[in-house]
Parts: sequence; C-alpha cells; structure tokens
Amino acid sequence: MKTMTDSATPLAVDTDFLPLEGTDYVEFYVGNAKQAAHYYMSAFGFQALAYAGPETGIKDRASYVVRQHKLTFMLTTPLRSNNEMADHIYKHGDGVKCLSLRVQDATKAWEETTKRGATSYMKPQRLEDKNGVVVMSGIHTYGDTVHLFIERKGYNGVFMPGYKAWSNPFFKPTDCGLLYVDHCVGNVGWNQMNKWVSFYEEVLGFKNILSFDDEDISTEYSALMSKVMSSGNGFVKFPINEPAEGKKKSQVEEYLDFYGGEGCQHVAMATNDIVKTVAELKSRGVEFLQVPTTYYDDLLERVGTIDEDLTPLKELGILVDRDNEGYLLQLFTKPVEDRPTLFFEIIQRKGATSFGKGNFKALFEAIEREQEARGNL
Ligand code: FE2
Repeated sequence: MKTMTDSATPLAVDTDFLPLEGTDYVEFYVGNAKQAAHYYMSAFGFQALAYAGPETGIKDRASYVVRQHKLTFMLTTPLRSNNEMADHIYKHGDGVKCLSLRVQDATKAWEETTKRGATSYMKPQRLEDKNGVVVMSGIHTYGDTVHLFIERKGYNGVFMPGYKAWSNPFFKPTDCGLLYVDHCVGNVGWNQMNKWVSFYEEVLGFKNILSFDDEDISTEYSALMSKVMSSGNGFVKFPINEPAEGKKKSQVEEYLDFYGGEGCQHVAMATNDIVKTVAELKSRGVEFLQVPTTYYDDLLERVGTIDEDLTPLKELGILVDRDNEGYLLQLFTKPVEDRPTLFFEIIQRKGATSFGKGNFKALFEAIEREQEARGNL
C-alpha cells in the first residue's frame, strides 16, 4: 500500500481556508420521495423531520427530510418533467445530488472555493423565517454531484426556512443506532482520480491521507484505485475511486455504466454497536454483501484480539480490519436501488482511522459474485 501518511492527522486549523464542521445533510434525487422517505424510515430507522413542497410554497418539488442522531437525509422528487431534477433522475436513476457541508460562513466558503477554481452551483442565498436565518451556497464536484455549504448558526427552526415540521403519529420506527456520516465515496471515470484529488486539494484545501493502487484493490478479475481526501480538520472524508484494468469489468466501471457517469458510490454511516445495528437492519429487510464463512477461519490471527464475540460477527457477516491505531468493523449493503449504483456502509471504529483495506479482497469477490449474477462481469 502506498500510504502517504499513516493516519488522518488533523492539520492546523488556522491554515484551513475552508473549515468544515461536518456533513450537514445528504440530498438524494429520487423518482418518488414519499416512498423513498418511508424506506429510509422503515428500513434504516430514520425519523420524519421536515417537509417542503407545494403546501409550503415550493412549487417544483417535494422534499422529505429524515434524521437519525446526526445523520440527516433529504429525499427530493420533481413534480414535473423537463427540469434539472427530472433530468438527473432520468440519467442517473435515484442517487446522491448534494453532499452538504456545515460551515460557519457559507458566503466565505463560496468565495474561497470559487476563487480557487470551483464552478458555482448556487451563489450565497439568505433564507429567513421567524426562527432565524440560514445561508447556503454551493459548488459543483464530480459528475452532476454538488457540495452545498450550509450556515445555520442561530437558526432555531426544525430544519431550514421553507420547510415545515413533518411527522406521522402512527409511524415512528425505532432507530437503528446510526449516528453520523463517516465518509462518502465518489466514483470517477478512467484517469480522472488525480484530477479530482487536485480539485479537493486546491479548491477545498483537503489532504490526500491514504492511497490504494490497483495491486492493493484487485482480485482475479476486477480492480480499482482509490485516494482518500480529508478536510483540514479531519471532519469530512471523501475517498475517490477510479476503475483499473482487470481481466473483467471493474465494479467502478459497472457503476459508471449504470449511473451514466461519475457520482457518489457509497455513504458510510457510523454506529457504536455494529452487531445491534446490523441485526436490526437485517430484520427490517436491508440486504448486505455476504462474504464466505471461511473469512472468519483466520480472522483473529489476522486482526488480533477484539472486544466482540466472533459468533454474532460470523452470523451477521460483519467484517473486521486493523490498522496501526486500532480496529474497525464494517459491512456493506447491496445497492439500494435497481441500478447497481449507490449503496451504504455501516462502520464502527474502535481506534482505526483507515477504511478496511484488509477486507478489500473478500469484499470485492463478493461484489463480483453479484456482478456476475447481473451479467455485468
Ligand atoms: Fe467506505
């Protein structure tokens, strides 16, 4: 592994021209936001939070906001054809549109990034209601994906101006212990990874903290390369994947084919109790990649002593990896739409700051079995 630095060591904040406080929310453009919101609530344990649509004066869309601890998802659908949202869904299927980042000053974030070469998606906008002010701005990143900068200091409303509180007294699914966004991964095209690494370095002030080449991430058939970008304070991490040549089609290439270009591949959601979380998600119908049970035969020799019993890990198919700082437990869902595109990762960190390199081979073989079943290998 070509490790550029050993860990996600935070940089001095005073050199950071774009201090990010974390992920504010992830917005998905979907074909039917009402049903998608129900899926995230019933399957993943999110709670209803806010709604915007014709009833709140928003005429072109319906947006449902759901939340679980510090994880906030927005499901948005256009109400008519022939607009940017409808075109996005026609081209990509359901997928991530906005990776929104919390900032202290959305105007400055927009100015600092656009002057360094970012293409503006939204000039700074001031949204105000009786609960206070939210300022938002945005820039384009890979594919049709954008980053919004959200400044909500002093806003006391339920979500932001334009949204009303939304809940259903008869449907309050219990949460699944999902806490916050750990990282969001982007898939980019052939020979595009370094371009986007430079973008995050130069435009957003991120650092490349880990790199994996195709020898790290290859199986008999398919391969990919990956570089992990981290914000200056380490609160936001965006790994960038690029397909690599293998005997057969890379999983990243399959994504690019079916998504119709570059986009968000997975969102990793943190938990403090992965056994409980995954058992709960499985009981609600969430489907996960399955590694062979032989994965567990030499697990403890590979990762050393861990706090968890092996039996539930094996039963649930949870993966373990260790780095210099500790270990992590993780598991990946199958794609959550019919196109083999976006999926989710469930991750519990016990000291480890890396991304599960030791699991790549077993995982990618599991993905290849899925690709083969789809006829895409
Ligand atoms: Fe990940």
